[in-house]
Amino acid sequence: MTHKEFLPSVYTKPVTDGKVTYKAPSNIALVKYWGKKSNQIPANPSISFTLDACATTTTISYSRVEEKGNDFSFELLFEGKPKPDFRPKIEAFFNRVEDYLPFLKEYHLKIETSNSFPHSSGIASSASGMSALALGLMHIEKQLDPDIKADFFIQKASFLARLGSGSACRSIEGDLVQWGSHKGIPGSSDLYAIKYPFEVHGVFHEYQDTILLVDKGQKQVSSTVGHNLMHGHPYAEQRFDQAHENIEKLNEIFKEGNLNAFIHIVESEALTLHAMMMTSMPYFILMKPNTLKIIKKIWSFRASSNTHLCFTLDAGANVHVLYPKGEKEKVQQFIKDELVAYCENGQYICDKLGFGAKRLLP
Ligand code: PMV
Repeated sequence: MTHKEFLPSVYTKPVTDGKVTYKAPSNIALVKYWGKKSNQIPANPSISFTLDACATTTTISYSRVEEKGNDFSFELLFEGKPKPDFRPKIEAFFNRVEDYLPFLKEYHLKIETSNSFPHSSGIASSASGMSALALGLMHIEKQLDPDIKADFFIQKASFLARLGSGSACRSIEGDLVQWGSHKGIPGSSDLYAIKYPFEVHGVFHEYQDTILLVDKGQKQVSSTVGHNLMHGHPYAEQRFDQAHENIEKLNEIFKEGNLNAFIHIVESEALTLHAMMMTSMPYFILMKPNTLKIIKKIWSFRASSNTHLCFTLDAGANVHVLYPKGEKEKVQQFIKDELVAYCENGQYICDKLGFGAKRLLP
């Protein structure tokens, strides 16, 4: 499949207006995507758990304009209020996807969006936000071309979401999702994400994720800048090879339900991601002192309690605590007793694996 297959042929049905709502979840990578080529092509494959509670809901009301303009015509409301600082990101996204959605300038779009998680919680909303938007736009395209098949709809939504924010392409489906070409994963592609195609032990389908909000402030270094610093990074090639190897190792681990081996890969991936940041030029650190304190607590609790909780990190200071459902009571008690003290204002979010985005009917 090449990007050309996402260029539509002529639309067959005239459509004047309509409205659509999608709710799309966030996701947390187990094997991390860090480094990219042009057009949001990942430098290495990644794999993620789709989340459930952390989600963005986006409604697009679309109406045909009298005459196609030179600019995109859209309004943007975030939690009911105009949000001018989101506009440039949406405009950049529209520019990137215009060839694949040539109807865009023929409609006025009112985009109303809200997150299930607290604003400025330090949780990136770009994955859930871009996937909800991409799905809404695909819905409009399907009105114009009703022959679009369900599989293609999902694939193209992931393709479009990727152009908005790389990891967003993994937020369309659930519950385990793979993105980026990998020789051992049939159907894998750099252009869009796929549902993980192999057998997965039941324990992984019910995994829990408690997100500890260590630092709710704006990140000092954006993902875009961080990805770019992988160009010319002294350890880049070894890191990209390692991601391929870790995905291969996970195949067996997922099948067998080997929790100890899972923990080793996931925690190593998180620390490697941050090691890449610390060894970039310029170098930077996104972890905070409390991030490290939490990691140490997790290690000592795991050693003394015969549980299988582990941590992962995204490009920030917050900690995702992952654990099997069967250990929920014990782990959540530990979190309340020992980890909440390290969260900003004691805030954390209990989430779990989810099964992908949904269209909400009016
Ligand atoms: O999708 P972006 O460009 O925000 O990059 C996300 C990068 C990580 O969250 C650190 C890793 C990942 O695979 O999600």
